[in-house]
Amino acid sequence: MISKDINLAVQHLNHNGIIGLPTETVYGLAGNAFETEAIHKIFEVKKRPTFNPLIVHIKGIEDLDKVATEIPPIAYELANAFWPGPLTFILKKQTHIPDLVTANQDTVAVRVPNHPIALSLLNQLDFPLVAPSANPFTSISPTRAEHVENYFGNQIGMVLDGGECEAGIESTIVGFENDRVVVYRLGALALEEIEKVSGSVTLLNKEDKKPIAPGMLLKHYAPKTDFILTRNVHEKLEWYSGKKIGLLLFNSYLPQIEKKYQIILSEESDLKLAASKLYNAMHQLDKMNLDIIIAERLPEYGLGISINDRLERASKKDTQLTS
Ligand code: TXA
Ligand code: MG
Repeated sequence: MISKDINLAVQHLNHNGIIGLPTETVYGLAGNAFETEAIHKIFEVKKRPTFNPLIVHIKGIEDLDKVATEIPPIAYELANAFWPGPLTFILKKQTHIPDLVTANQDTVAVRVPNHPIALSLLNQLDFPLVAPSANPFTSISPTRAEHVENYFGNQIGMVLDGGECEAGIESTIVGFENDRVVVYRLGALALEEIEKVSGSVTLLNKEDKKPIAPGMLLKHYAPKTDFILTRNVHEKLEWYSGKKIGLLLFNSYLPQIEKKYQIILSEESDLKLAASKLYNAMHQLDKMNLDIIIAERLPEYGLGISINDRLERASKKDTQLTS
């Protein structure tokens, strides 16, 4: 059930129910971060392996030290600059955070979501919320209440309707090593923005990623339809001629394919707008009964890097545990 009733959401969450939660990035599948019953439900409904830890959502920076400890000054600087917002920290966890949340690690992921409904909800609860993206394991993340409803229907208490997600891709995840900022997952906050506050950041090399690292699954965010990513859409159109093709393009339509099978992310080449439209475009193309979706690689700067990361993962054939 999709509803705007925050009080109803509060009731579900107070009784260990789980709900679809709007955030500025994507919808989350939320439950009480301190109750293993609720957390188990999230893993079960999402069919997510329990070795993949969850993000804890808090209502404000004042709650950070209730969840994490040994917080370096640079984390506070970044929080002051970007919270509420699409930036998640990996920090040493407080002992009372359930092991199920952190997949038995001694670190916890934490952020303050920048969505008025999520914040209003968190302010009415006396616990933080764990919320992975509200999609079945490896599927496309949801950016509208209907996406969540279509995935989970009555398996969850409700979907709290907060409209379309503004950022449209997941938060950027960073950790701290000797006061250096290490990027674990590219996301809705561009690295250039973080670097303005922290100085240069280290991007975790794909090969370095341990199975527990964020977004470590090669295949992720994937449509059911075959999906390829390319710099050269013209060439791929020739290769796949005869097939029913859909196109996911950056800024302009191509004459070779009927317009209704093409989605443009931003005519103005605005990367922020492109990110906000990305997952809905993938959901839409996936519903068109196509043989193949050909996606165009975006420019490699700013949010273009994060969008390309998602497109790359969507184009992988198999679920693999290392990158
Ligand atoms: O924008 C977002 O971050 C959304 C919204 C709902 O807040 N949430 C989201 O959660 O994307 P999820 O579970 O789909 O992705 C969280 C990522 C996972 O890849 C997980 O491995 C990583 O965060 N993660 C969580 N805790 C971690 C930890 N302690 N150490 C390393 N990675 C962690
Ligand atoms: Mg996810």
